[in-house]
Amino acid sequence: MLDELNRVEKVGLDALQAVQDEAALEAWRVTHLGRNSGLMQVFSRFGELSKEEKPVVGKRANEVKKALEDAYGTKAEQMRQVALKRSLEQEQLDVTLPGRSLPLGRLHPDTQTLRELYHVFGEMGFQVFRSREVESDEYNFQLLNFQIGHPARDMQDTYFVEVEGRGDNPIILRTHTSPGQIHAMRWISAMNPDNPAPVRIVLPGMCYRYEQVTKRHETQFEQLEGLAVGPGITFSDLKGTLADFARRMFGQNTRTRFRASYFPFTEPSAEYDVECFICSGAGCAVCKGSGWLEIGGCGMVHPVVLLNGGYDPERYSGFAFGLGPQRMAMLRHRIEDIRYFFQNDLRFLEQF
Ligand code: FA5
Repeated sequence: MLDELNRVEKVGLDALQAVQDEAALEAWRVTHLGRNSGLMQVFSRFGELSKEEKPVVGKRANEVKKALEDAYGTKAEQMRQVALKRSLEQEQLDVTLPGRSLPLGRLHPDTQTLRELYHVFGEMGFQVFRSREVESDEYNFQLLNFQIGHPARDMQDTYFVEVEGRGDNPIILRTHTSPGQIHAMRWISAMNPDNPAPVRIVLPGMCYRYEQVTKRHETQFEQLEGLAVGPGITFSDLKGTLADFARRMFGQNTRTRFRASYFPFTEPSAEYDVECFICSGAGCAVCKGSGWLEIGGCGMVHPVVLLNGGYDPERYSGFAFGLGPQRMAMLRHRIEDIRYFFQNDLRFLEQF
């Protein structure tokens, strides 16, 4: 058996010389160290040996096993080093190259515009008041002086939320931010009903209308509402506030214009235009040659609305306005289609 062990060792070590790759090395391990290898067969025949032979053959068998295992380990390490060297040569690393820059996220143009508006109105003393997007017909229309069946409801086609048994007061998606006026006035006046505190707030948020989608109309869009209520507030305050806002937002020389209009919740009501900041009033494609850009609606809060908010119209008056932040961003950046805002196309978003 000692001769057999010498042979196993020699054959194994010789065969290892010829091994060149990982697959061959694994095959070698199975042949020379595996369960059916010549070495393991010697171990399995140990029972045939006499008591005297056993320690001698056992010692030699262990020596051969260790020699083969060591040779295998050395060969594996050599091959690993060769492979590493080769890969380093092939993929030469230039440690002086600048790193790959990671794309930076940024704020959506809507968010940027809204934050700018909060800043401008914040400087003018307005606080932000957030209101719900899912509303009742009562808050969205009735308390704002749109009676049931009022023709002005057609100005804002509505999305209904299916809730059974609501009768004349269905749940809807708000069609404008104006219902927030009632929530805000009721919340503030409830604190001191006999002598409610004045209000000076802006109400931002999404609105929804069942409308034909066009370059200028989306079914989902942003509005920014403004509301000021207090003793002795007049139309001049409204004009002064919106004129000052336009100067702060669009430039010191921006002029503003008010055109008579109609909203059920304001009386009198007006459309609010600013002088085209692209052509400074000379007339261009953006203002369609008129020199003016329509920014939103406004007016003096209707007495019925004041009353519904908990403010006595004999003692208090107020003004309100509703602006379209996306329309402002479109005019300013000459964005031709409102649909770009929600298409999540990075080629558009990365420009802001
Ligand atoms: C209103 O929604 C009134 N609640 C505004 C108001 C508030 C008037 C307070 C008086 C007092 P209007 O429907 O005109 O008004 O909308 C106001 C602005 O919202 C528009 O000028 C426009 O910028 C924007 N807007 C309205 N509909 C859409 C739409 N479908 N897509 C994009 N923007 C829209």
